[in-house]
Amino acid sequence: MSQIKIAALAGDGIGPEVMREALNVLRAIERKFSLDFIVTEAPVGWAGIDAAGRALPDATLELCRGSDAILFGSVGLPDRDPTVPTEQRPERAALLRLRKEFQLFANLRPVRLPKILAHACPLRPERQGDGLDLLVVRELTGGMYFGTPKMTEDLGNGQRRATDTMVYTTSEIERIARVAFAAAGNRRKKVTSIDKANVLENGVLWREVVTRVSKSYPEVTLEHMFVDNAAMQLLLKPTQFDVILCENMFGDILSDEAAALAGSLGMLPSASLGATTGQRTFGLYEPAGGTAPDIAGKNLANPIAQILSVSMMLTYSFGRVDAGDAIQNAVRVVIEQGLRTGDIYSTADVGARRVGTREMGATIVAALG
Ligand code: IPM
Ligand code: MG
Repeated sequence: MSQIKIAALAGDGIGPEVMREALNVLRAIERKFSLDFIVTEAPVGWAGIDAAGRALPDATLELCRGSDAILFGSVGLPDRDPTVPTEQRPERAALLRLRKEFQLFANLRPVRLPKILAHACPLRPERQGDGLDLLVVRELTGGMYFGTPKMTEDLGNGQRRATDTMVYTTSEIERIARVAFAAAGNRRKKVTSIDKANVLENGVLWREVVTRVSKSYPEVTLEHMFVDNAAMQLLLKPTQFDVILCENMFGDILSDEAAALAGSLGMLPSASLGATTGQRTFGLYEPAGGTAPDIAGKNLANPIAQILSVSMMLTYSFGRVDAGDAIQNAVRVVIEQGLRTGDIYSTADVGARRVGTREMGATIVAALG
C-alpha cells in the first residue's frame, strides 16, 4: 500500500498524553505490517486558540484536507475563558466544524465490556450476560445539532427565546441506516432503531425510512424503540442490543449511557466516517471520552480509547483489518495480564496491577511483538 497521510490533532486536556501512546502504537504497526505512514501533528481546540487564535486554525484544516484520515484527541475545557462565545469554543468551532466540513455523517461507537472487567460495570453481574458487546451507530451531521434556524432572540420584554431545529431528509436517514444494517450483517444481525415517533415528525419519517431500507437487508432483524424506553432498556437488559441506530442527539445521549456500561469512557474508541473514494474512506477517529482536565498531565489517563481509535482507523479508512485486529488483540492481552489504569482498577480485581498512561501504552506496544 502506498503512503498514508494522517493528521494527528491531540487537542486539550489528556489529549496530548494519550495521543503520544497511540502514535507509538501506530509506529509499531507501521514496522510490523510494512506500512508507510506520514503523520503530521497540528493544534486544535484550546491548543489551536493558543497557537493561532482559533479552535480550528486554517493550517490545521488544510492539513486535514490533504490527509487520508484524522486521528483526533479531545477538545474543550469548560472552565477556560468564559468570554469566548459558544460558537468560537472548541466543541462547536473545531469538532462540529470538522464533522460538517468532511461530511462525517456516520459515527460508530463500539461498546465492549469483556468479562474480565465485569467489576468496572455499574450493573449487577446477572445483567451483564457473558460481557457486553454493542455498537452505537449515530447520525452525526444532521438533526438538532445543525438544523436552522438556530438562534437566540431578544423579545424586548425582558424575555429571550432560544430556537434549535431538528431536521432530517430521507437521504440522510437512508445513508446512516445502510451503515447500521451493513454493520449488523457482520455482527449478531440485529438493528434497534431509536426514535420518538410518538411525538416528533422526525421520528415518524425516521421509522418509515429505516423500515424501507431494512428490506434490502433480509438477514438483519429490525426492531424500533422509543428513545426513552431505550434509555431504560440499556440499564435493564443491555444484552438485547446488537446495533443501536440513532439520530444525532439521541445518539449523543445513549452512547454515553452505553459507554458507562463498559466501565470507563477510557476504553471506548469511535469512528466518524464520511465518503468512500476507491479503497479509502475518509474518517475522523477519536476516543469517546473527553479531555478529563482533572487528571490531565498526571500520567493517569487511560490511553486505550485513543489506541483503539487507531485500530478503527486502520480497519475502516485503510481496509487493514489485520493491523486493526492486531491492536485489539494486544489490548486484550495486556488487560488479561492485569494491567489497569485507575479508571478500570478495583482492589477487588485479583491479580490486577495499577499503571500509568505511559506504562499501559508501552506494554501494548510490546504486546504487538
Ligand atoms: C460527543 C461529544 C460532542 C457531541 C460534544 C463535545 C460537542 O459529546 O462527541 O459525543 O455532543 O457530539
Ligand atoms: Mg457526547
